[in-house]
Amino acid sequence: MAKGNQSTRKRRSGKRQRTKGVRAGVVGLGLMGKSIVACLLSSGATVTGLDVSPSARRRTRPQVLAMLKEMRHEGLLKFGPAQALRRLTITTDFARFSDCEVVIESITENFRAKKETFDKIESVVSTDTLVASNTSAIPISNLQKGCRHPDRVIGMHWAEPCHVTRFMEIICGEATSKDSAERAVKLAQTWGKEPALVLKDVRGFIANRISYAMFREAFHLVESGVATVEDVDRSLRNDVGFWITFAGPFRYMDLMGVPAYKLVMKDLLPDLDCSKKVPELIRRVVDSGGKGVSTRKGFYRYTPRQAKRWQELFLKFNYDIRKLAMKYPVDAGDRPAPERSKRRSR
Ligand SMILES: NC(=O)c1ccc[n+]([C@@H]2O[C@H](COP(=O)([O-])OP(=O)(O)OC[C@H]3O[C@@H](n4cnc5c(N)ncnc54)[C@H](O)[C@@H]3O)[C@@H](O)[C@H]2O)c1
Repeated sequence: MAKGNQSTRKRRSGKRQRTKGVRAGVVGLGLMGKSIVACLLSSGATVTGLDVSPSARRRTRPQVLAMLKEMRHEGLLKFGPAQALRRLTITTDFARFSDCEVVIESITENFRAKKETFDKIESVVSTDTLVASNTSAIPISNLQKGCRHPDRVIGMHWAEPCHVTRFMEIICGEATSKDSAERAVKLAQTWGKEPALVLKDVRGFIANRISYAMFREAFHLVESGVATVEDVDRSLRNDVGFWITFAGPFRYMDLMGVPAYKLVMKDLLPDLDCSKKVPELIRRVVDSGGKGVSTRKGFYRYTPRQAKRWQELFLKFNYDIRKLAMKYPVDAGDRPAPERSKRRSR
């Protein structure tokens, strides 16, 4: 990240810091773009969405409306869904982003296409508009190269379903200013996220790096005959799955007692899989046309009814876990217990 950026500060001086009901743009209205739109509308934002595909544009309103209705049903929307949808404009014209405070690019994962999109966004927005990318893997520092104002270019890594999850990684490229990073974090908080700041744009950012280390070991255990797919899933769900929404790995070790982890690491780390190859099992599944529930064939097999049921339950679970996560925010233990604070005030 670039240190304190004078020019950015100058550009923003005298401006009111608006963190609620922002004017936001979304480029790319695919799987993620649509749920990003629903998330922004639910926070009170006025949103302009753009996509090159007529069918994506056509599908956006009905699908976003369905998400908003679902949010309303789950108590996550304080407006009527139709009322929220009125704040959405769909267009093919980049000029409609001219008054946006933030524009989020969420098009297909293609470097050249993203660079062209950034150029089109920068040609119409004001100099202090945040320009964000939802890239999964392209380094933000590369996307910044050649930009008119690279200091306001930033990564915003969302997780599906974007209108429900609390996850967001804000990624700084080499040229991103501290001011842009702070603004992005504040915006994300107004969108119902609990954002994590990634200070260097390493491949995979935080969550993917750690998840993939876990996936690699999961494959290793199955491929070396230690456990079945079912039992690896069962074990992880009931161990990590039980604490991970409450505490990250560091808080968890604090709660359990740190020295034990040091002791185990000494013997266990040399034993873990460090392979750089894509595991044979995932190759076999993908090469035989397995995509998961969408083709009813992945690591498990599904009847049409089961595939639908797993998808429905996963969405319901996302709402349930969100409620739990809201009850135990990241600083839950630093806050006084409600009973104790009441007693003190008596
Ligand atoms: N799918 C995920 O779980 C996930 C998670 C995190 C990040 N991402 C990233 O988010 C981005 C979008 O992913 P997705 O899954 O929504 O993809 P998607 O294929 O569902 O949607 C992409 C949309 O972008 C549109 N598009 C393509 N080129 C365009 C252009 N030049 N201008 C305007 N619109 C254009 C397409 O018509 C399509 O509607 C990718 O960079 C992806 O890596 C995806």
